[in-house]
Amino acid sequence: MTEFEALNARISVRSYEKRPVPPEIVAELQAVIDDCNAAAGLHFQLVDLSAAIKPAVKLSPGMFAGEVYTCALLVGPEDEIGGEMVGYFSEKLILRAVALGLGTCWVAGTYDRKSVSPAIGEGEKLWGVVPIGYATARTPVIQRAVRSRIRAKDRNTEDFVESDFPYASLPAWIRAGAEAVKAGPSAVNQQPVNIVYKGGLVTARLWKEKKNQMMYNDLGIAKYQFQVGAENVGVRGFWNFGEDGEFIAE
Ligand SMILES: Cc1cc2nc3c(=O)[nH]c(=O)nc-3n(C[C@H](O)[C@H](O)[C@H](O)COP(=O)(O)O)c2cc1C
Repeated sequence: MTEFEALNARISVRSYEKRPVPPEIVAELQAVIDDCNAAAGLHFQLVDLSAAIKPAVKLSPGMFAGEVYTCALLVGPEDEIGGEMVGYFSEKLILRAVALGLGTCWVAGTYDRKSVSPAIGEGEKLWGVVPIGYATARTPVIQRAVRSRIRAKDRNTEDFVESDFPYASLPAWIRAGAEAVKAGPSAVNQQPVNIVYKGGLVTARLWKEKKNQMMYNDLGIAKYQFQVGAENVGVRGFWNFGEDGEFIAE
């Protein structure tokens, strides 16, 4: 599965088989985490208790079914740019996990914080966790209802772009990027990120007036999604971090 296929296949999985992730796949996830940490000064940690068949994190039973034995702990700088970088690189990790046939979910709140014990350096915090395991073949009614209730609030793709030009006339790669942003995860599916295409520049911003810390995770996630969407139609590029950070097409 390509990264773009993974982007389209990804959903938040809230029902897991009681099946450990094999060691060779855990090693691949660890390699992605090592790359992210080296690239951005993050402190992501992979907990793998597959050998002991012991849950790697206690997920809230009202939201989740099953158990996971592998889990990424998203530790990074506690400021807003740190939150954005955590979001950006978490999405890279999530898409790799999906491409490897695994199910994941970004979880900032609905887990037992006491069930994990990450190493946290000065100026860092635990932004969230990503359980990694195998999705059950059938999603139980409760978990299906949770997802469809929150995704029902989806915005239209056109609303994700702010520009002086009509959406239909925008370059195909910007529309592809916006579609990818829409498909991505965001905290309680608030979809708080817009792509701004003005004066020939592409930036991304939080359009909601009331901001919270998790929206900076959403901003980074949206930037990664945009990049993968644009690349799929032939425009490679990279982002500068920060709300005014530009997307630089190569
Ligand atoms: C920063 C962030 C925090 C999230 N926290 C939780 C959480 O605590 N519990 C949960 O079940 N889902 C959580 N999610 C998943 C979102 O609810 C989900 O991404 C959104 O509803 C869109 O659905 P989808 O991911 O299935 O496309 C979180 C997502 C993000 C990006």
